[in-house]
Amino acid sequence: MNLIIILIYIILLCGSNVELSLFKTNFHFYVQNVASIFHSNWRENFLKKNPFAKNRFKLTKSLTHYNSSDFIYPMILTVGSCLVHRNFKVAQNRYNSSLIYVDILNMNYNELPPDWALENRATAQIACKYVIQGLRKKKLFNQNFIEKISAIIHNEWMKRNGEYASKDLMVPYMNLTEIEKDKDRKAILIACRIYNELYLYHKFNTTPVAFVGYIDQLN
Ligand SMILES: *[C@@H]1O[C@H](CO)[C@@H](O)[C@H](O)[C@H]1NC(C)=O
Ligand SMILES: *[C@@H]1O[C@H](CO)[C@@H](O)[C@H](O)[C@H]1NC(C)=O
Ligand SMILES: *[C@@H]1O[C@H](CO)[C@@H](O)[C@H](O)[C@H]1NC(C)=O
Repeated sequence: MNLIIILIYIILLCGSNVELSLFKTNFHFYVQNVASIFHSNWRENFLKKNPFAKNRFKLTKSLTHYNSSDFIYPMILTVGSCLVHRNFKVAQNRYNSSLIYVDILNMNYNELPPDWALENRATAQIACKYVIQGLRKKKLFNQNFIEKISAIIHNEWMKRNGEYASKDLMVPYMNLTEIEKDKDRKAILIACRIYNELYLYHKFNTTPVAFVGYIDQLN
């Protein structure tokens, strides 16, 4: 008798574990796609502002698996005198081999080292989570909803970046300029668009995102 109950319990538990891991896989897929749009949008905007930029090398703390023989091209980059990897996307400081730089302008999201993927991923995770949650709870996707999630995105951003952020960004969402608010709104709108474009409502068993009322789409 007890054994049967235990067996049923195990079956239920396994069932929900399978569901959970399926959810995780789908969620990861969703977040990857949204984060990679964030990165490609950043590249586009950067190139609009700096039409002649060929690269943008940034210091990374995450890459350590390179050895000196990987770096063959000596070059002067904005970050100093470097030896550049044969893929031209990674550079090593010529005078200090522990300083590794990556060209975030010429890397896809998937190529970014973890420290440079972190911000996009963190924001994407929040946006994706609230899209799914909103759909499951049958929330109205109206401007008010967008504002609420944008405020959460901004709060979480402050938690992550408080130490480095400029003071005028370290204020409640309501006190941000419209330009800054738009960045947070854009994150949630992209998460909504990708949800529909990738037919994720089939995977998460919800309806597609349907906006209610006027939503400023910020093109
Ligand atoms: C450096 O790494 C390459 C592969 O990226 C490997 O083939 C080579 O043997 C390594 N050299 C040294 C000195 O560790
Ligand atoms: C090389 O860079 C590392 C990391 O910034 C630093 O800790 C180290 O002192 C530097 N070494 C030299 C020789 O400048
Ligand atoms: C944010 O704006 C409100 C209302 O305009 C104001 O009362 C508050 O002092 C502001 N807070 C900050 C931190 O700027």
